[in-house]
Amino acid sequence: MIRHTDHFHGSDLETIEQLYGIKKEEILSFSANVNPLGISPKLKEYLPKELSCITAYPDREYTELRKTIGAYCGCDYENITVGNGTSELISLVISNRHPKRALIIGPTYSEYEREVSLSGGTSNYFPLSEENGFLLSIQELEKELLKDVELLILCNPNNPTSSAISRASMRTVLDICKRLGIFVMVDETYIEFAKNQAEIDLIPLTATYNNLLILRGVSKFFSAPGLRLGYAITGNKDLTELINSRKNPWTVNSLAETAGKLMFTDTDYMQKTRELIDTERTYVVKTLSASPDFQVYEPVANFVLVKIKKEDLDADILFDALIRQKMMIRNCSTFPFLNNKYFRICFMEHKDNKRLLQAIFETAEKH
Ligand SMILES: Cc1ncc(COP(=O)(O)O)c(C=O)c1O
Repeated sequence: MIRHTDHFHGSDLETIEQLYGIKKEEILSFSANVNPLGISPKLKEYLPKELSCITAYPDREYTELRKTIGAYCGCDYENITVGNGTSELISLVISNRHPKRALIIGPTYSEYEREVSLSGGTSNYFPLSEENGFLLSIQELEKELLKDVELLILCNPNNPTSSAISRASMRTVLDICKRLGIFVMVDETYIEFAKNQAEIDLIPLTATYNNLLILRGVSKFFSAPGLRLGYAITGNKDLTELINSRKNPWTVNSLAETAGKLMFTDTDYMQKTRELIDTERTYVVKTLSASPDFQVYEPVANFVLVKIKKEDLDADILFDALIRQKMMIRNCSTFPFLNNKYFRICFMEHKDNKRLLQAIFETAEKH
């Protein structure tokens, strides 16, 4: 077995190619959390015809694109800033607020901590406890918020736990934060996959809370991580102005600008995606839960966190066995509060999910 100290992100297929001698095109990634439908047929047909858009600079204000996103999200386009993926906006928001102390609800995506550190601040993690199904206790959180926190960061639904906080609970959190002068950044990268999106989507709250900013993008739901298109929504005009005044111009290129204007209106694709993910979420959870070797935490997003209960099996062994069969899972040992007994898989097409589960059970049987 090849032991590796670092984790493999969904985009690290080149490393796998070198280590295991498997061509990256042949690897099925259950780790990248990307919509298995791939690019929508409409976009595939439309975008090549629009290729000549790259001969001009994009609109510096991205007004039409922001209006399309505003209509899609149900918010005022003037509250929207677009960026080169959610990643650029995570960086811009954190570097512009440059918090001395940030509180991050974790285990979660590692970029928030990295950006806080790059901007000269320190981060503490507020743990979501496993016993509580990785759900948030607001009472416990409030105690931590009292300790000079300037920025609260959370991901909703959260990566890798696939748990979520309701809008009603977030109102309470935002009220506490408002009282304490804390700004809140919420990453909703996975929200469109949630069956109960209407109960957790925080965009309606941006109209009343000026201490809230929401991040989203097209990488996962629209299966376009290479396009690099993300957006931030906040009712805080001063922050929008500050970010725009410090942001490099044209970080969203003309192709992404053109594609974006179509993607957010492609309702057929959105519906097909939701149907597929709902069906496969139910199938994967039911099948894994039936095994005594695995503990499944109820997923809201398009992926599930799983704990290995079998003593002699861990996520290193499982990763190794599955990658040799050209299937890549996310070993969660690098996430804070987790270890190599945890792994994460996203929901792909049915035949692929079936093959993965079969291979997981076969590996468990051998250990
Ligand atoms: C929670 C979360 N936010 C943001 C990103 C990066 O998004 P983007 O491709 O829009 O920069 C990822 C990628 O894995 C993610 O999991």
